[in-house]
Amino acid sequence: MRIIQAANYDELSARAAEILVAQVLLKPKSVLGLATGSTPVGAYQKMAEVCRAGRVSFSECHTVNLDEYVGLGPGDEQSYHTFMWENLFSHIDIPAEHTNLPDGKNLDAAAECARYDKVIADFGAIDIQILGIGHNGHIAFNEPADYFAAGTHHVELDESTIEANRRFFSSREEVPKSAYSMGLAPILHAKRVLLMVSGEAKADVLYKSLTGPITPQVPASILQLHSDLIVIADEAAAGKLA
Ligand code: F6R
Repeated sequence: MRIIQAANYDELSARAAEILVAQVLLKPKSVLGLATGSTPVGAYQKMAEVCRAGRVSFSECHTVNLDEYVGLGPGDEQSYHTFMWENLFSHIDIPAEHTNLPDGKNLDAAAECARYDKVIADFGAIDIQILGIGHNGHIAFNEPADYFAAGTHHVELDESTIEANRRFFSSREEVPKSAYSMGLAPILHAKRVLLMVSGEAKADVLYKSLTGPITPQVPASILQLHSDLIVIADEAAAGKLA
């Protein structure tokens, strides 16, 4: 495990973008595992700047996102699909057909989870997987549970996750209560994992995840088993790490 400490969010975003751009320069046909949420937004902006300046092209990359709310999809302002287009895809030169998210509009959960697992499996392995972490230790929407889920699954979101996501919606009632989430197998099989963590509110859970017991009650703790994990944390988030 490598821990890169950044002074602040801006530096964290710059470091993460450098690693992602380097990945694509070294392997233009990379499969990028992408996340939504606040944490990667700065890195996405910096990747777009580098692309606009003509110093990297994403035209041969493929992407797989971690999750999508059940019931939402393209055309819904709050969907992760829309988030990815607003924050990254429309600012880089990736073809739309190279981007992949679970289809939240498919209410046949078993069929959709099987479809998404096949999309991921057909790529072989994700070259680099970006992750954020929830206050409860979730990665993707693998919420604290009695077991680690391997494949894509339909998950009821934790109260704490619904509360955290509330900031993107005008009322709590509007926050979707379930999602399709990538399981932990493709994350563990990714060639490299880049965990980005910002802010004091994440310091405890980051410390527990990296130094505590490996338990499905703290899903991110499974990352301790990954052979190429890079953690980029700003000073506030890294506060409890030695
Ligand atoms: C997003 C995802 C989530 C977030 C996590 C942190 O696709 O899967 O696990 O990474 O909830 O969210 P932020 O970055 O908003 O604190």
